[in-house]
Amino acid sequence: MDFDVIVIGSGPGGYVAAIRAAQLGKKVAIIEKYNVLGGTCLNVGCIPSKALLDSSEHFHNATHHFADHGIEIKAPKANLAKMIGRKNEVVTKMNAGVEFLMKKNKITVFNGFGSFVDKNTVKIAKEDGSEEKISGTDVIIATGSKPLILPFMNFDGKRIITSTEALNLPEIPKHLLVIGAGVIGAELGSVYGRLGSKVTFIEFAGSMIPTMDGTMGKELQKSLKKQIGAEFNFNTKVTNIENKGKEVEVTAQDKNGETVTFSGDYCLVSIGRRPYTDNLNLEAAGLTTDDRGRIAIDEHTLETSVKGIYAIGDVIRGAMLAHKAEEEGVLVAETIAGQKPHIHYNLIPGVVYTWPEVASVGATEEELKASGKAFKTGKFSYKALGRATASGDTDGLVKILADKETDEVLGMHIIGARAADMIAEGVTAMEFRASAEDLGRISHAHPTYMEAVKEAALAATDNRSIHS
Ligand code: FAD
Ligand code: NAI
Repeated sequence: MDFDVIVIGSGPGGYVAAIRAAQLGKKVAIIEKYNVLGGTCLNVGCIPSKALLDSSEHFHNATHHFADHGIEIKAPKANLAKMIGRKNEVVTKMNAGVEFLMKKNKITVFNGFGSFVDKNTVKIAKEDGSEEKISGTDVIIATGSKPLILPFMNFDGKRIITSTEALNLPEIPKHLLVIGAGVIGAELGSVYGRLGSKVTFIEFAGSMIPTMDGTMGKELQKSLKKQIGAEFNFNTKVTNIENKGKEVEVTAQDKNGETVTFSGDYCLVSIGRRPYTDNLNLEAAGLTTDDRGRIAIDEHTLETSVKGIYAIGDVIRGAMLAHKAEEEGVLVAETIAGQKPHIHYNLIPGVVYTWPEVASVGATEEELKASGKAFKTGKFSYKALGRATASGDTDGLVKILADKETDEVLGMHIIGARAADMIAEGVTAMEFRASAEDLGRISHAHPTYMEAVKEAALAATDNRSIHS
């Protein structure tokens, strides 16, 4: 064999798997079809979206909040081309970082499209038309996902767009129609709403971010309504999208079954992503996909039905998150090296980088109710926090769900400033199976946003929050 391990795809799943395998002494190759490493996350996902969220947040604060802090400036102007240029620089820096890590760990990088020849051989089709075949003892499929678009949505990449195009628009939309009020809709809708676009959400479910705890969706909707004047159409099923030149027309059925139409100058389709295995020639390796296009794996080892072939990240079941893909990359590399690693899927946090941020770990209130488990709830509002009052970020709350009998923390849900970072305390607490009382008895620095976690834990313990 040319290599011990071949990784197909250099996203957060693939490149992390490659590094961990190399750390464990394996001779590793990684194949990436683009000329840059890092996958969806680094190039058209997590990193560029956060760069634009940060720039648009600065603009929004300068326009709406600087005066509250006694900072007087002339009305600022948004320069979208410059924001996008900065975002591209951030991405380029990160690409170089992954390339450096590949060199440091002596991982051989092949740029080209990988496809199976047989279970141990992968063909690489390169940009210059040449081909190369390499063999490996183990192969890790980390080919990720692509935006999901239904045929009647008539995607054209110009006015009817996905997140990829939304990260590189030539102008700030006057009116952005957003199909799907999930994570991408909420984040990219926020970017353009803050820059001045009118934003209209058209969502199939009954609330925003419907898979998260219900309180989060309700609070986020209120915040986005207040912050960017967003409009929401829930229980509304899109049936057609048409580019009419400078306008896009969306036809949908509302909750009463009536036909409704919406028009705007851009329409972002953000209704989920599909696993990507196109032209991978899985059959040659003896593999197939399920009805949702995912590669089936063993729940513990992430090995496929073919011995020595593993799959990780967005191309398999579970949340489509970069840190979930990374954990799986580490797990597979360690499994190949003969170790027995484990992932607590229930403890993988989810974050929405809107303002305020939303972050969650563990069970939602809806899940606990459905399971019939007896639980108690502790909540604490940011309005009662010294730190939040000082900064002016008083929209938000922490909600802790704990077992009614044992007091074990079962879930933590936060909407508010810095929620993305704060959720780590919930993850740590739950990894160590802490009780709400444990969290309530730990000293939290004052004044910090983290005090809201302590107070919510005290409220969950026996309703003894100090400051509410
Ligand atoms: P990917 O990152 O998709 O990487 C797969 C790689 O494989 C790609 O580079 C692809 O070119 C390559 N590839 C595919 N087929 C082949 C082939 N045959 N040969 C060679 N190479 C191939 N997640 C978060 O956790 N936090 C966030 O803030 C976040 N923000 C996001 C924002 C947006 C706009 C989007 C779209 C996604 C976001 N995500 C976020 C999700 C995150 O990007 C994905 O969950 C993550 O990238 C999945 O990693 P992966 O390694 O499985 O696949
Ligand atoms: P999503 O699953 O978060 O949201 C899709 C939304 O579209 C849902 O609310 C769904 O009810 C709705 N929907 C589905 N079909 C519809 C239809 N026909 N008409 C109207 N609404 C419809 O998917 P999204 O936002 O596209 O993101 C894709 C993936 O990328 C997610 O799985 C997410 O995990 C990941 N991501 C993660 C981020 C983060 O961690 N901060 C940021 C962005 C994306």
